[in-house]
Amino acid sequence: MDEQALNGHARGGRLPRACIIGAGSSGITAAKALHERGIPFDCFEKSDRVGGNWVFANKNGMSAAYRDLFINTSRPRMEYADFPMPESYPDFPHHTQIAAYFEDYVDHFGFRERITFETGVEHAARGEDGLWTITLEGGETREYEALLVANGHHWNPRWPEPPFPGMDTFAGEQLHAHSYIDNSIFAGKRVVVLGMGNSAMDIAVEASYVAERTCLAARQGVWIVPKYVFGKPVDQLRNDPRVPFKVRQRFIQGLIRSYAGPPERYGLPKPNHRFGEAHPTISGRILDRIQHGTITPKPNIESLDSSQVRFVDGSSVEADVIVYCTGYKITFPFFDEDFISAPDNHIELFRRVLHPDIANVFFIGLLQPLGAIMPIAEAQGAWIGDYLLGEYVPPPPDQLRADIAADQAAMRRRYVASKRHTIQVDFDDYLHELAAERRAGAERARANGYRPPALCRPSAATTAS
Ligand SMILES: Cc1cc2nc3c(=O)[nH]c(=O)nc-3n(C[C@H](O)[C@H](O)[C@H](O)COP(=O)(O)OP(=O)(O)OC[C@H]3O[C@@H](n4cnc5c(N)ncnc54)[C@H](O)[C@@H]3O)c2cc1C
Ligand SMILES: NC(=O)c1ccc[n+]([C@@H]2O[C@H](COP(=O)([O-])OP(=O)(O)OC[C@H]3O[C@@H](n4cnc5c(N)ncnc54)[C@H](OP(=O)(O)O)[C@@H]3O)[C@@H](O)[C@H]2O)c1
Repeated sequence: MDEQALNGHARGGRLPRACIIGAGSSGITAAKALHERGIPFDCFEKSDRVGGNWVFANKNGMSAAYRDLFINTSRPRMEYADFPMPESYPDFPHHTQIAAYFEDYVDHFGFRERITFETGVEHAARGEDGLWTITLEGGETREYEALLVANGHHWNPRWPEPPFPGMDTFAGEQLHAHSYIDNSIFAGKRVVVLGMGNSAMDIAVEASYVAERTCLAARQGVWIVPKYVFGKPVDQLRNDPRVPFKVRQRFIQGLIRSYAGPPERYGLPKPNHRFGEAHPTISGRILDRIQHGTITPKPNIESLDSSQVRFVDGSSVEADVIVYCTGYKITFPFFDEDFISAPDNHIELFRRVLHPDIANVFFIGLLQPLGAIMPIAEAQGAWIGDYLLGEYVPPPPDQLRADIAADQAAMRRRYVASKRHTIQVDFDDYLHELAAERRAGAERARANGYRPPALCRPSAATTAS
């Protein structure tokens, strides 16, 4: 970065002014990238603090954190590259430690005053000329040349679709994992937990200590990854993106099988896929609780009546509480739905960030890595910072579209069809490919004379849709 950039001007002209929506772990790292490049920006945050999902009982009402939530991606995998978590933290810290870490990050890099707290973005509209008009809670409007969207994708609960027959008349309590706080609600109760993701594992385990009986229902099987192998957090095993995926897949699946045997050995459904073809379910405790008879595996729910849950194999149980751990909807309430939305969690972006038709909107942290989101969001923020500075130029539109199409086809080929497998990436592979793309884009920028992008002219859209 040169002197001019620090003053808000790149080598070739004026820098675009940017708006960031959200100051969770994705928004703050994008803010840090713009801040250190001297790019003028405002970051708006609904809550009174940073950290989003990691703030237990967050004032924004959007956090899914429960009292005993710990990260399931290990500390060295989750921390930002230039701001390690304290050495005193355990391998898998508690949500309070993670939230404190994000607060420290903002203060360490000194951009807290660039975040406007308790100020949600109500509406974001793009004019004919490409300029964004941002309407804030309270009605104030402001204009920006670039928009970075970091509003998170784990806050809008997806309930079973279609609803199970009898859901409207079931006499017990029904809740979504998003509103789960702690296991006091299960004391002495008969509990059914639905799902095979990480929420279902954690909540079933917590229920199993206090409930009269806990059933874990699933519509399809998954590979359950232990938190540790060979005495190390599992995500710290060497994972070289240059080694073909199939080879790495065979190795990990072999490890899991040698550690725990196949999931069906515990009465869980047999996975209909190989490891790495579904978002990983990580739990060091679920198999133990099943083996001790405190959790009973069940197939999918078929229907409910006033006090019973009937399963698709014809069996049924009496139940007082049902917890639907059925995932989340990717939602952008501030965009008009016919402008930008993600029906069934489907949204097509170049490297999960750049919109193919709209040159000045960027999505940060909108992915599901096999690994943690934070270092990826950090790399995305730096990438977009370079773009706004004129030090990166994206590929031409036809190449952008071909890349998106190839990426979508590869994801469909690899992953089990599910609304939770629409934004998957492999942690190391993604970072490796993004670094290569940034190098290629830096070459294009050099040829372009390092001019900051002209984002707000009618020609700014890379192509018409
Ligand atoms: C229970 C649970 C556990 C998880 N565990 C892990 C884990 O161990 N490791 C991991 O890598 N990931 C984990 N995740 C994934 C999680 O999405 C990320 O950890 C992380 O929270 C993503 O950060 P984010 O900034 O993208 O989104 P969020 O944390 O959701 O933050 C979004 C921010 O945007 C703000 N915002 C939203 N809309 C607006 C608006 N209109 N105007 C202004 N501000 C707005 C919100 O207030 C919030 O502060 C977990 C998710 C859940 C649900
Ligand atoms: N740090 C932690 O320990 C922790 C804890 C909780 C969550 N998380 C993270 O939070 C994110 C969300 O996890 P999540 O577990 O809440 O959601 P998720 O990963 O989307 O899993 C949803 C589960 O519900 C199932 N499901 C969805 N609709 C269903 C239906 N109609 N009938 C039956 N089953 C249905 C899905 O099955 P299909 O696969 O068949 O679609 C899947 O098993 C993930 O990134 C996860 O890693 C982390």
